[in-house]
Amino acid sequence: MKRIGILTSGGDCQGLNSTIRAVGKSLYNYYGSKDLEIYGIIDGYRGLIYGEYRLMKQSDFSGILTQGGTILGTSRQPFKLMRVIDENSVDKVAAMKENYKKLKLDCLVILGGNGTQKTANLLSEEGLNVVSLPKTIDNDLWGTDMTFGFQSAVDIATNVIDCIHTTATSHGRVFIVEVMGHKVGWLTLYAGIAGGADVILIPEIPYDIKSVIKTVKQRTESGKNFSILAVAEGAITKELAAMPKKQRKAAVAEMAYPSISYKIAHEVEQATGQETRVTVPGHFQRGGSPCPYDRVLSTRFGTKAAELIINKQYGNMVALVDNKVVPVPLKDIAGKLKVVPKDCEIIETAKKMGISFGE
Ligand code: F6P
Repeated sequence: MKRIGILTSGGDCQGLNSTIRAVGKSLYNYYGSKDLEIYGIIDGYRGLIYGEYRLMKQSDFSGILTQGGTILGTSRQPFKLMRVIDENSVDKVAAMKENYKKLKLDCLVILGGNGTQKTANLLSEEGLNVVSLPKTIDNDLWGTDMTFGFQSAVDIATNVIDCIHTTATSHGRVFIVEVMGHKVGWLTLYAGIAGGADVILIPEIPYDIKSVIKTVKQRTESGKNFSILAVAEGAITKELAAMPKKQRKAAVAEMAYPSISYKIAHEVEQATGQETRVTVPGHFQRGGSPCPYDRVLSTRFGTKAAELIINKQYGNMVALVDNKVVPVPLKDIAGKLKVVPKDCEIIETAKKMGISFGE
């Protein structure tokens, strides 16, 4: 009897269920229904810590290809608190190991982003058999060219920019579309290019508001009556970027606006006199059905995870490298963030198109 646990952890995204489906279906295809038990761990690591799980049925893996969210539920369990004893005196790492043993698992399948992969690596170092999969709309996981969820979120954010374009032209306004991504700008960059934004501001390239204003004014002078700015949640000014981390965090917390986009909007409107509006699609970007690309990618990832389990290749995350689905050791990727390199080809492409990064 093969016994597998599966959990989804951290912020959700499109493609979690299609990945769960691919793992389950390919395992059932290999082992058959009599020799396989799959336990769904509820709400991510929380379920593993506090012993909340359910034996899944083979039918649970059907009819979920296009379903958004996660049938297992999820929660954020910060990695930095994993070694901290909780308010009920529970040692989380010990509890997770205990529940793994209690369930007599052969392997734990973990779907998640950066923090999740760090805990997956910790569990692997603690002796558990782990296979993980790269999930996030941010596409910021080290070791994989692509995460599932990213393309679906790019589709949504691009559609927002497309829709904003028509109303911006009708009214002759400046519009800021705030795209998700506190630490990295992949989503803003791709949606910005796909949606034809005039300015793209991402955390990796700190901006100068004077440069942003100059771009808007130049567009007006050249006869364009509107401008579109794609701004990442984590966009940051050059001044803030130059500050030590603690001071910067305090300055951001003191900001008198709901988010950076509102501050930029205020400054642009003041300087140009042009009506400026902000649109924040927020968690909309993580919701709904995975796009066809993500359905295919998550199916490739899920079947690879099953293959790693069958071959006992534990301690790996499934990754896309040069369009091949391969295992990468968790110890090599955990804790590393894949940021947008300032001089990468896609940034150069955008610059050649006249897109401003507010430098
Ligand atoms: O990591 C995915 C993500 O959607 C980020 O882009 C965003 O900054 C963050 O999660 C939002 O987190 P929460 O869902 O906890 O508000």
